[in-house]
Amino acid sequence: MPLLLSLIFSVACQSQAPAPATAEASKVPSAALQNENISAPERGIIPRPTSMSWQAGRFSWQPEGTLCLSVAEKGEAFTAASFQKAVTRLGLPDSSQWQVRGPIATAESSDNAEPCDISLRRSAEQGAEAYAISVTQKQLEIEAATDLGLNWALTSLSQLLQVDGGKNYLPAMRLEDAPRFSYRGMHLDVGRHFYSPAAVKRYLDFLARYKFNRFHWHLTEDQGWRIEIKKYPRLTSVGSMRKETLVGLYRNFPHEYDGTPTGGFYTQEEVKEIVAYAAERGIEVIPEIELPGHSLAALAAYPELGCTPGPFEVATTWGVFEDVFCPKEETFVFLENVLQEVLELFPSSMIHIGGDEVPPDRWQESKEVAALMKREGLTEIPEVQTYFINRIGAYLKSQGRTLIGWDEILEGGLPDEAVVMSWRGQEGGLTAARQGARVVMAPNDFTYFNQPQGEADAESGSAGSRFLPLEKVYGFEPAPDELTAEEKKLILGAEGCVWTEYIPTEAQLWPKVFPRLLALSEVLWSTAEESNYHDFISRLSPELLWLESQGVEYGRDFLAVKQTSSLSGAQVVVQLESLSDAPLYYTVDGTEPSGASLAYEGPFVISGDQIVRAAAVQKEKLLSGASPRNYSAHLATGLELAYAETWSERYPAGGALALTNGRRGSLVFGDGNWQGFLDTDVEVVIELGQEQQVSQVEVGSLTSPGDWIMPPRGVRVLLSKDGQKFEPVAELSVPGLAEPTPPALNAHLLEFSPQKTRFIKLVVERTLELPAWHPGAGKPAWLFVDEVSIR
Ligand code: ACM
Repeated sequence: MPLLLSLIFSVACQSQAPAPATAEASKVPSAALQNENISAPERGIIPRPTSMSWQAGRFSWQPEGTLCLSVAEKGEAFTAASFQKAVTRLGLPDSSQWQVRGPIATAESSDNAEPCDISLRRSAEQGAEAYAISVTQKQLEIEAATDLGLNWALTSLSQLLQVDGGKNYLPAMRLEDAPRFSYRGMHLDVGRHFYSPAAVKRYLDFLARYKFNRFHWHLTEDQGWRIEIKKYPRLTSVGSMRKETLVGLYRNFPHEYDGTPTGGFYTQEEVKEIVAYAAERGIEVIPEIELPGHSLAALAAYPELGCTPGPFEVATTWGVFEDVFCPKEETFVFLENVLQEVLELFPSSMIHIGGDEVPPDRWQESKEVAALMKREGLTEIPEVQTYFINRIGAYLKSQGRTLIGWDEILEGGLPDEAVVMSWRGQEGGLTAARQGARVVMAPNDFTYFNQPQGEADAESGSAGSRFLPLEKVYGFEPAPDELTAEEKKLILGAEGCVWTEYIPTEAQLWPKVFPRLLALSEVLWSTAEESNYHDFISRLSPELLWLESQGVEYGRDFLAVKQTSSLSGAQVVVQLESLSDAPLYYTVDGTEPSGASLAYEGPFVISGDQIVRAAAVQKEKLLSGASPRNYSAHLATGLELAYAETWSERYPAGGALALTNGRRGSLVFGDGNWQGFLDTDVEVVIELGQEQQVSQVEVGSLTSPGDWIMPPRGVRVLLSKDGQKFEPVAELSVPGLAEPTPPALNAHLLEFSPQKTRFIKLVVERTLELPAWHPGAGKPAWLFVDEVSIR
């Protein structure tokens, strides 16, 4: 057994308590990461159970034996048939030949001389989803109050089963378990791209393995209506197809289209089958019918539901569209009819109605909306949105269902008993809980799995403005301490969202979902106090192998070597860290590292401009991508700048040291390195401490018109010996963007004759407004700057 594997084994054998966060315990065996067959004799469970202790020996699951069904108090016992069904579904060994005894009262069973091999005890002492397991060499006992509890018990066992010499074994242990949150969800956007019923079922299989109990099915979008509604056949005959699709990322101007029609929808029969399939696995399906926004596909089918005559087209690109449902009586009749069919298909208590991202434009221009406002005494357009949501909420309530919507539904006052899904961070959720409303957290910075997991994911064409690495998901807290104990009870749980603009196929879906889904499962199921990323990682590798055995790719960015830089006086010091036990190698010239590159022995100092690429290398193979990180060490490194006007709070990048920390921003504009400015130029003064000879100033900027970020118009440098009187020494003007261009990193270099100075003023002038060719023409442009290098 390799050393590290035996280490993990010994940790796992002792208990499920968090492993000590030593470097050794945290490592993933590189063998696992190279798909070599490891068969850990004992392994953990994901999500981590409440308590678990390993015992000596193992239980052999034989093809024949005795299955005892017992009840602790009055009530129904588990049935052999439902046990057998779950056993088959989970791939546990067949037990159909077992001799069944029971149902018997627990008291009787202890008197009975004949032992049971497997014993299922129904006990109301357990919570609805809770269970306990005891495995000895002789017997497997499961205790639960409900079929759901039994289901989760068997799910846990399916992760522990070992095959040895053709026989099936379970390790001896005791386990008690119950979920932390009652709402443990995953979402899937099938509007932007359609996924087959088979792919949806596979998604549900994975959700079940990690004990998720809600599937939020985002069924309607601007780009496609995906559910058959018998009363309105054009929703699918027209609304489920778009004539073509944007190629590449929206931010990659100029835009090109593929010219290929695409679409798809689920028939009501398929929907019923999927809902039943989910229910068998302990998962409730919550449908989302988006209103009043994100409704262009419905308007394409039924243009009379818009505020303007149309015609409308199913969207072929991404974003937020101004054409939305018009709040007319005919629209409400339509929506109630649609919802009526939806309610018949989905027994869930909650129905998601969207409610997000509704531009006011069409309503502002509409005579019908003006008449509605007059009639209802509404004075502002946002009140129309509230009116809309309240009407739908009242309808759902009349049908015995609860409205759940994105956090915009908070804005004009929540409908009675509505549940808020907080997506623009956690703020909406906190506000709702403080108002006494129930909340599901789905903050885009912690649970949007379409965001890139790391640099390699971003380079492979993944969209997103921020990184969402595995460790960040693992550290997510759905019920933060800003809430009181009472308010925390209103946080039902959380959900991971998968928006699919840039995830066109099932094969591309899995590397976005995995392994982050496993981290979220533990956030939602396991106790927060014992959450320990390194312990999680030690249980992750057997699951990664299992995923590989299912033909599923997972994102590997969590294995990438983590580069962190810090300032030590005027020096930039880079530290490398990896989760794998393989040795690290790096280059400083931008070339791909290999086992022949510099071996990492500890933090190292940057000199000048260097591009560091690092990887863990095992048997000549890189365990992950080695994305470049750009550093710069210069005369101003580590000096605080004095700003005439400060940066935007949205992109502070670390404040007054952001431009002198030696680390340069990447094309992912929310990577934490860029400092953003809106409505103001950048004007900073750098004091060198003493007079120094200076001959060049360089400043980086980002061009990304698709993100409304434009290059500067000009850059100027002025010098001063006393900090009062500045003399201009260099300037350059940057030509405006005459046409759409893809994102790019810019370096603006100003050189001048060498001179001694103590104060340097740098002015970076912004592009005032977005140009005529831009979709936001005339609106203010962002200016993003990063490292200011002085030499
Ligand atoms: C959302 O991401 N617009 C809910």
